[in-house]
Amino acid sequence: MGWYDWFSSFYDSSLEALYADARAAAADGLSLSSAERVLDLPVGTGQSLGPLLERLDPSATVVGVDLSAGMVDKARARAERSGWGSRVELVVGDVHTVEVEGYDRLHVFLGMTAFPRHEEAFERLWAGLAPGGRAAVVDVYAEKPGFQGKMVNLVARADITRRAWEPLERLAEGFERVALPPNPKYGGELWLATGRKPS
Ligand SMILES: C[S@@+](CC[C@H](N)C(=O)[O-])C[C@H]1O[C@@H](n2cnc3c(N)ncnc32)[C@H](O)[C@@H]1O
Repeated sequence: MGWYDWFSSFYDSSLEALYADARAAAADGLSLSSAERVLDLPVGTGQSLGPLLERLDPSATVVGVDLSAGMVDKARARAERSGWGSRVELVVGDVHTVEVEGYDRLHVFLGMTAFPRHEEAFERLWAGLAPGGRAAVVDVYAEKPGFQGKMVNLVARADITRRAWEPLERLAEGFERVALPPNPKYGGELWLATGRKPS
């Protein structure tokens, strides 16, 4: 069992309430009313699926991908409980190798500080985004993490010293980055970045 498989067993009980408002902000930042297919990578236990689906047309779909089979199992259980049926497709895959394409929205929530090679990972994801499609990225940043930031890095196997919005900033039109309401538990600044792929 990998680290994230183990983490999946207490991920929702420890983190679901903490990030709920940020998930709504990220979903709003994607302008989902006109979207057809959203890629949510990493999907984790599926905490963002509800906020995304609530804003999508019933015929639109969300594809959720995560490296951890334990995380994806939790996301599958959530999808079954919620009766989302064919609106959600869940896949175990590595951002560095998985074949995903044909999506018009890209949602990357707490992934860019966790991926082994985040710049390369983002460029792969961007390549599969349809021209004119939007991306939303949420993550934590601390130039010099304090105690809580170090704990976040340890528990989430993350690196919150990454300026993880920069790949989107380089590639997108209409790039914006905003700080989300603070909470000491984040271990740094929680930010939301959005932008559009040139048509
Ligand atoms: C902090 S969790 C965030 C999960 C989810 N996006 C959320 O907001 O709750 C980081 C996730 O990144 C996934 N992950 C780490 N490396 C990955 C990779 N190379 N490819 C795909 N997913 C990866 C982990 O399995 C884990 O579920």
